[in-house]
Amino acid sequence: MTATKGLEGIVAATSSISSIIDGVLTYRGINIDELAEHASFEEVAYLLWYGKLPNRSELAKLQEQLDEYANVAAAVIEGIRLYPKGTNSMAALRTAVSSLALYDESSNDMSQEANQLKAIKLQAQLPTIVAAFARIREGKEPVAPKKGVSIAHNFLYMLTGEEPADVAVKALDQALVLHADHELNASTFAARVTVATLSDIYSGVTSAIGALKGPLHGGANEAVMVMLEEIGSTDKVESFITNALANKVKIMGFGHRVYKNGDPRAKHLQKMSRELGKLTGNMELYDMSVKIEDLVTGQKGLKPNVDFYSASVYTALQIPRDLFTPIFAISRVSGWSAHILEQYQDNRLIRPRADYVGPVSARYIPIDER
Ligand code: ACO
Repeated sequence: MTATKGLEGIVAATSSISSIIDGVLTYRGINIDELAEHASFEEVAYLLWYGKLPNRSELAKLQEQLDEYANVAAAVIEGIRLYPKGTNSMAALRTAVSSLALYDESSNDMSQEANQLKAIKLQAQLPTIVAAFARIREGKEPVAPKKGVSIAHNFLYMLTGEEPADVAVKALDQALVLHADHELNASTFAARVTVATLSDIYSGVTSAIGALKGPLHGGANEAVMVMLEEIGSTDKVESFITNALANKVKIMGFGHRVYKNGDPRAKHLQKMSRELGKLTGNMELYDMSVKIEDLVTGQKGLKPNVDFYSASVYTALQIPRDLFTPIFAISRVSGWSAHILEQYQDNRLIRPRADYVGPVSARYIPIDER
C-alpha cells in the first residue's frame, strides 16, 4: 500500500453537484461565470439542493422557508453570550452550529424530507448566528432577522442594525454565489466523511466548519487581510513579497490544489474589488492586491484563488476581518448540505487505509521497567 499524500488526484466520490473540468467550474452543469452574472444566491442554493433552477413560485417558497427559520433558538444565542472574550469567530460558529442540533427536534430524523428541511434551516440560521456573535462581543444586542429580503441583505442588516446599501447587498450576494460549492474541497469532504457514518446533518456541517477554519482552506481570506495590513501600502509590496518568496513563505490567497491556470472565481472578485474601491474612493487595497498578484504570478507562476480578492471586497463592505471565513461558511453551507443529502442518497462508509510506517513487532514493556 502506498499513500497518496493529501489524496492529490484521488477520485473519492461520484457527485452531480459541481464540477471542475479543464479549469471550468460549474454548479449542476451551469458555468459559474453565468451564475455570478445573473443568479441570486438563493437561486444557487436551490440549484445545489434540488438539481435545477427554481421557478418563481419555488423561489418564493424557499424565501418563505428561509424567513420562517432564520430565528435561532434563544438558548443558542444565550450560549454565545457565554463564550469567552476573544473567542475565535470560526470556533464560535462551529460551537453554535453544533448546539443548533440540541434545539431541533428533527435533528435525528434521517428521512430525506427532514434532512432537506434541515439544510434550509442551517442556511437560514448561519447568518443569524454570525451576526449575533459579532454584535454580542461588542456588547450590543443581536438584531432579529428581517423577512422578505435576501440572505446577503439580511446578514448586513443583522450585522449593523441598519439597512444596507444596494451596492453592498449586490456585492455580498455575488460573493456568496461564488463561494457556494466547489466539488470535493476539504470541508465538503469532511462533511461527507462524517455523514457517511450515517451521523446527522448537524454533525456533518460542524465537521465542515472545523475544516474550513484552517488557513490552507477558508481561513486564507482572513490571512490575506492580515498580510495586506502588515504590508500597509503599495510602495512596500515589492520588498515584502520578494522577501517572503525568497524565504519560502506561502503567500495567502495564491495557489490551488486543483487549478493550475487560475481560479475562475478570482476574476469576479477582482472586478468587485476594483468597483468597490472606486465607489468608496479608496483604491489602496485593490492597488496593493494587483501589485501582489503581478509579483507572485511573475516570480512564482502562482495565480490568486477565491480568497485573495475576497479580502479587499469584504473590507470595502466594512466587514470585520475575522468574519471573512464565517461569511464563507454562510455561503458554503449550501454546498455542504447538498453534498450531505447526496451522500445519504447513495451511502457507503468512507474508510480508507493508511500506509503504516511505525515500528513493527514492538513489545509491551511493564510500566516499572520503562
Ligand atoms: N505561496 C508560495 N508558494 C506556494 C503557494 C503560495 N500561496 N502555494 C503553493 N506554493 C508552492 C509550495 O511551497 C510548493 O513549492 P515547492 O514544490 O517548492 O515546495 C508548491 O507550490 C506546491 O504547493 P503545495 O502546498 O504542495 O500545493 P497543494 O496543492 O498541497 O496546496 C494550497 C494547495 C493549500 C491551496 C496552497 O497553494 C496554499 O497553501 N496556498 C495558500 C493558502 C490559500 O490561499 N488557501 C486557500 C485555497 S482556496 C480555498 O480553499 C478556498
